[in-house]
Amino acid sequence: MSQIEFDLEHWQTLLAGKKPRAILKAALTEFDHIAIAFSGAEDVVLIDMACKIREDIRIFTLDTGRLHPETYQFIEKVREHYPVQLDILYPDAAAIGKLVSQKGLFSFYRDGHHECCAIRKVEPLRQKLATLDAWITGQRRDQNPDTRQSIPEVEADIAFQGRGDTLIKFNPLANWTSAQVWDYIEAYDVPYNPLHQHGFRSIGCEPCTRPTLPHQHEREGRWWWETANQKECGIHRKS
Ligand code: ADX
Ligand code: SF4
Repeated sequence: MSQIEFDLEHWQTLLAGKKPRAILKAALTEFDHIAIAFSGAEDVVLIDMACKIREDIRIFTLDTGRLHPETYQFIEKVREHYPVQLDILYPDAAAIGKLVSQKGLFSFYRDGHHECCAIRKVEPLRQKLATLDAWITGQRRDQNPDTRQSIPEVEADIAFQGRGDTLIKFNPLANWTSAQVWDYIEAYDVPYNPLHQHGFRSIGCEPCTRPTLPHQHEREGRWWWETANQKECGIHRKS
């Protein structure tokens, strides 16, 4: 199906409060030009579930050039473990070159992360999404009390343009907690990023991610030098 025939309101009602597998199944049944955005963290559960629903699963990772070595190794492990088409997306070399030559390799600590994320994540994502009718993310409501509390199971992505008029975004894990994700990983022997065994609960780029203490929220390990309501990199904008 293309996004033209997709009745968003109908699916929003139908999928409200549903389990991840049901949301994924709807996404993968309704759309051909669809892919899973895989960050190299616990969103691997989406890949495990998707492979049990459909054979030709396409996933993509935004390689910012600044991921942990463990994350690169894990992404490769996932490619070997699952029968998926994995696309690794890279930022524009000239744009990175300009940023780094003008501001250095760690400008985000001084100027905030948005400029670097725009080049390393948002722009490559924009180009990828222009080839799709829908995408699937591992966002959960419990990941960020300040910005993700009302994530819907399915929505129109108004921040990006797909192949057609409306780009659809599925968030199958929206209703799940971190504990439910980890129960699934253990129950189905799903491979996971070894950084999770070293105190990392939310995993992003190496210079912008650190382990959290037991009393801290997982999001506190991301861009810790910035305030809580800024802890989004621009790939999940609401406008
Ligand atoms: S982020 O915007 O703060 O970086 P987060 O790490 O919480 O996002 O991940 C939420 C979802 O965004 C992931 O499950 C995945 O779908 C998508 N995502 C985040 N980072 C990447 C990445 N590097 N490549 C592909 N998808 C990503
Ligand atoms: Fe750059 Fe940090 Fe954003 Fe990664 S998370 S793209 S290193 S600012």
